[in-house]
Amino acid sequence: MGFFRVKKSILNGNVRISGAKNAALPILAASLLTNDEVIIKNVPDLLDVQTMLCIIRESGRNVEFKDGVVKINSNVSNGTISYELVRKMRASFNVLGPLAAILGEAKVALPGGCAIGVRPVDFHIEGLKKLGFEIEIEHGEVRAKFNKKENEVVISLPFPSVGATEHLMTTAAILNGTTIIENAAMEPEIEDLQNFLNGMGAKISGAGSKTIIVEGVNSLNGNIHEVIPDRIEAGTYAIAIAATGGKGYIEKVNPSHLDALWQVLKDTGTKLEIFEDKVFVDGTGEKRSTKINILPYPGFPTDLQPQIMVYLSVAKGTSTISENVFKNRFLHVDELVRMGADIYLTNGTAIINGVEKLSGAKVEGTDLRASAALIIAGLIAEGITEVYNDYHVLRGYENIVEKIRGLNGEIEHLG
Ligand code: EPZ
Repeated sequence: MGFFRVKKSILNGNVRISGAKNAALPILAASLLTNDEVIIKNVPDLLDVQTMLCIIRESGRNVEFKDGVVKINSNVSNGTISYELVRKMRASFNVLGPLAAILGEAKVALPGGCAIGVRPVDFHIEGLKKLGFEIEIEHGEVRAKFNKKENEVVISLPFPSVGATEHLMTTAAILNGTTIIENAAMEPEIEDLQNFLNGMGAKISGAGSKTIIVEGVNSLNGNIHEVIPDRIEAGTYAIAIAATGGKGYIEKVNPSHLDALWQVLKDTGTKLEIFEDKVFVDGTGEKRSTKINILPYPGFPTDLQPQIMVYLSVAKGTSTISENVFKNRFLHVDELVRMGADIYLTNGTAIINGVEKLSGAKVEGTDLRASAALIIAGLIAEGITEVYNDYHVLRGYENIVEKIRGLNGEIEHLG
């Protein structure tokens, strides 16, 4: 089993942010809506992206991926995606609607459990039904068959789910009539998906607000698109620099996508200078405690919750973090406690009593962001930390070892 060995370091320097995984994945899924050539730039080379490319190949399309550029051409011919691919990544489920819309019928395995808690796909399924698909769930697979769509469909999501918003707006793009998605997620990745689809000839408006309106078109054409910067990767490095007491620039980022993080860092004693496409982080001051409510965008992102918890674990005073997106996304807490943090959980809230220092230990990453948080914990802890289950990190952080070393951090990938 591979692991990362991390030593106490002060991060200083510059780090360049890659394209956003969570924008690239839905954009790649949406490329199944055309048989024309699609070129997507600034795509990070990550395990999750490779899984999505395998799915696109399985659908019959031809895929090339080199130097951050994905080229997809030839026809979609197969609508059955194997369990092995869906099992590796939940976002695979989002090809069901596009495949069924273009081929008339498709079958994708139902995603299983997940370390960050129960993650059902009921909003996706109810939405697809409203869009006119007959849905059958049997033997762990979901079959969607297009029947007939009403001229105007309103889908009101019970919670602003990122995946359901993306899945339904993509599918509706080539279905007749108007689709209105209410209580839509407002994440920047959804706006990027809207721009990609509109570049293919779709008529979608409202992404970035609570209501998305899709005017269906008959077919979509090819497109060339550049994926937005990864705000979660940027936030992870900003927190890492601040937590280690270092100084540095986060480059090639859209700072307006991270306002909630900048507010928390400033409130807790980290100095920031925000430029158009970079942010200077100065973590040399004393850190103070705060209260954070994890909420859908524009709230503080759940994907930075474990990382900010590490930062607060060595801040002066008692902090609280209430998780309102994935209520049980707290598996990293026990590992941080093993490293000397003083954290306990009560009703979906973590109470963090700041300690003087953490101490290095062998710890296990349970998901992508928890693993990134444990690497940050390793960078501030006395001695050596080994973070096991390396594959989680490889799913979502491009060149993490090179990037941390570029900031003078001591890290090795072994095993
Ligand atoms: C996306 O997951 C991201 N993944 C996640 O990033 C991120 O944590 C999450 O959004 C929240 O921001 C990708 O973009 C590929 P949701 P998603 O549907 O779409 C409930 C990472 O580390 N829900 O917005 O799966 C759900 O259980 C990953 O990069 C239902 O109940 O998240 C959760 O409580 C991890 N029924 C809430 O909604 C549904 O049908 C939000 O989930 C769908 C969701």
